[in-house]
Amino acid sequence: MIVCSCNVISHHDIEATIAALRDLDPNVVLTAGLVYRTMGHRPKCGNCLSNIVRMIHAIHTDEADKQAQK
Ligand code: FES
Repeated sequence: MIVCSCNVISHHDIEATIAALRDLDPNVVLTAGLVYRTMGHRPKCGNCLSNIVRMIHAIHTDEADKQAQK
């Protein structure tokens, strides 16, 4: 599914970028801007930014839940 139609960035592309950033530095502070820069893009209209922030938040929430279950 395309998340950013301006730059043609898919959900998978964003997930892979977030995973790569976290592999490089597990304590990285993820922001939509960092995700864009890492992919070599810049936001154009900005309509997708809230979706990217939600994806980052969802990953943090999932990992926090997993940590709490240990
Ligand atoms: S939809 Fe991502 S910058 Fe426009």
